[in-house]
Amino acid sequence: MLSNDVLANIRGRRSIRTYLAKQIEDEKLDLVLEAGTYAPTGRGAQSPVIVSVQDPETLRTLSAMNARVMGTDSDPYYGAPTVVLVFADASRNTCVEDGSCVLENMMLAAHALGLGSCWIHRERQMFETEQGKALMKQWGLAEHLIGVGAIALGYPAGETPQAAKRKDGYLVKV
Ligand SMILES: Cc1cc2nc3c(=O)[nH]c(=O)nc-3n(C[C@H](O)[C@H](O)[C@H](O)COP(=O)(O)O)c2cc1C
Repeated sequence: MLSNDVLANIRGRRSIRTYLAKQIEDEKLDLVLEAGTYAPTGRGAQSPVIVSVQDPETLRTLSAMNARVMGTDSDPYYGAPTVVLVFADASRNTCVEDGSCVLENMMLAAHALGLGSCWIHRERQMFETEQGKALMKQWGLAEHLIGVGAIALGYPAGETPQAAKRKDGYLVKV
């Protein structure tokens, strides 16, 4: 059977929901972010904008905002030391798809570098609030951007979860 490092990386990536407190190295963060920028985008417009957050106070703010949307008291980012937010230009009809490709590229890059990640939802609602809009302004983001999603990023603590069985009927060959 053919073996290939890229395919093995795709197969081996899992959502990680417990993280060490240890921060990731800048070099690794930069490689993850760069991988995001090489994602395909509709018409090659590069509509997304990627914001990486490591400032503890901002991480607490994001956690509280996300938890409010989710209706929980727990940290939706699982205490990850880095959170990477992806926004995209709402005027592009592929904005969600563009942002999603960026998020997936970054998760695969993270796994290739020995980091753990998990896609975290609800950024669209978070950044529709006054608090979210104020943060976007503070970060110099244009008003036409919408939150597509985020990844929690850090060193995994504990065992990597097993992949669920792939469902029957996932593949149709015609
Ligand atoms: C669009 C999307 C939203 C997700 N939102 C969350 C989330 O808010 N919190 C979370 O823990 N996992 C979230 N996940 C991760 C999924 O739960 C996870 O990918 C799925 O359970 C399969 O596990 P795996 O990634 O380990 O293969 C999300 C995944 C996607 C694609």
